[in-house]
Amino acid sequence: MKKTFILTGLLVLVISVAFAQTGVKKRRPLPFEYGRVIIDNYSKRHRLAPVVFDHWLHRAKFTCRLCHVDIGFAMNANETRIRAVDNINGYYCGSCHDGKAVFSSCQSDTAGRNQAECTICHSFGKEVDKKYEFREFIKDLPKERLGNGVDWEKAESDGKIKPIDFIEGISIKRGKFVDPKDFELRSKVLGMPDIIFSHRKHTVWNGCEVCHPEIFVGIKKGMTKYSMVDLYEGKYCGVCHSTVAFPLLDCQRCHTEKVR
Ligand code: HEC
Ligand code: HEC
Ligand code: HEC
Ligand code: HEC
Ligand code: HEC
Ligand code: HEC
Repeated sequence: MKKTFILTGLLVLVISVAFAQTGVKKRRPLPFEYGRVIIDNYSKRHRLAPVVFDHWLHRAKFTCRLCHVDIGFAMNANETRIRAVDNINGYYCGSCHDGKAVFSSCQSDTAGRNQAECTICHSFGKEVDKKYEFREFIKDLPKERLGNGVDWEKAESDGKIKPIDFIEGISIKRGKFVDPKDFELRSKVLGMPDIIFSHRKHTVWNGCEVCHPEIFVGIKKGMTKYSMVDLYEGKYCGVCHSTVAFPLLDCQRCHTEKVR
């Protein structure tokens, strides 16, 4: 009796997670679309196509922390309100896309605004010839089922990708992190495997500041209360694990501990 109850509960949860993850789009993003952000606060108004930003390419090259702390991109689509002038002055995309280290971003000259050099970013709804093709790019990376179809954790630990965490002139020099301890999160429902949360593995990508204090206060374990429902509303672990890191549908990647 009790078991059936739990199973039904889980089923409802799985279904709601499935819905929450697809939202209004009604279908799950394909591997190459997972982590894609369409940025359109100003482009259409200026008769330019919205900007397409792909996490798969950028996260393979840089850590989350570098962009979301040092450069200061918000962790919410369209929240940063990037202006062309910021890019031109070396902020946001322009921190890297400066025409020196990487191809350049916006230019004040508005005459040539549908040139290839603009449409490489202002590409939404356009056929654009790009340097990187998703399938080709992930070919030699370890595979996973969902999200981008890539096991990013393993790709990093195997040294297949080496995300850069520091850019001269942009990043602040820091001392070495004191790694806090990994810990177990009990899932509260009997029969649901517990979770091992690895501080160490997360710190590689996120440093400390991406999570503390905005997502988790982090002064003492257990101070932030959250449940699976909060996660699929896009809070706590769900900030990343529904958009860029492997999605919530991949239950067993978090609920890994043997059932108590
Ligand atoms: C090269 C820079 C860069 C890197 C590296 C990067 N991001 Fe982002 N991220 C962005 C930009 C740009 C946006 C969009 C911001 C905006 O629209 O205002 C974004 C948006 C997001 C969002 C919001 C997505 C949404 O759909 O609302 C999340 C969550 C996120 N990033 C997490 C991560 C995680 C986790 C990593 C590391 C695995 C990462 N990012 C690596 C630049 C980056
Ligand atoms: C590296 C990526 C990138 C490239 C290349 C790029 N842009 Fe942009 N541009 C952006 C982003 C991101 C925004 C913010 C988009 C939004 O919110 O609609 C933007 C916004 C703009 C805007 C909006 C107006 C404003 O005041 O912010 C204009 C105009 C613009 N770009 C012009 C250009 C032109 C012209 C080119 C080609 C010479 C170009 N951009 C190339 C990333 C790029
Ligand atoms: C931390 C540095 C960094 C930041 C910030 C950054 N990029 Fe990039 N981006 C790169 C690098 C490096 C490449 C690969 C360039 C190459 O190999 O020629 C790249 C490639 C790209 C490409 C793919 C081009 C292709 O031919 O496949 C696009 C599109 C792009 N970036 C858009 C953006 C936009 C839009 C933003 C801002 C919202 C942004 N990038 C912010 C470093 C960055
Ligand atoms: C991916 C997100 C994430 C990152 C990155 C992260 N933490 Fe945490 N941290 C957590 C979570 C989740 C908790 C538990 C929060 C709770 O239960 O309220 C926590 C708890 C803590 C605690 C309290 C531990 C205890 O036993 O009471 C400390 C201290 C801490 N973090 C320090 C750090 C430091 C230092 C770094 C960087 C080296 C870091 N964290 C990186 C998510 C993160
Ligand atoms: C700031 C973004 C962020 C937050 C918040 C976050 N994660 Fe992650 N997590 C990542 C990234 C990035 C990876 C690397 C794998 C990937 O991208 O698919 C990862 C990997 C993992 C892994 C696989 C690595 C391992 O430990 O074996 C687990 C499990 C995991 N996260 C659980 C959690 C849990 C549980 C929480 C909430 C307590 C959480 N994460 C919060 C970004 C985040
Ligand atoms: C990113 C990691 C992650 C993934 C993926 C994940 N969970 Fe969870 N889950 C958690 C965390 C964290 C908690 C809360 C633990 C606590 O109470 O401290 C939790 C709690 C739960 C609970 C206990 C009740 C509750 O709401 O707190 C159930 C049941 C559950 N998850 C089911 C699932 C199912 C089913 C899936 C797959 C559809 C799933 N989880 C995927 C991290 C995850």
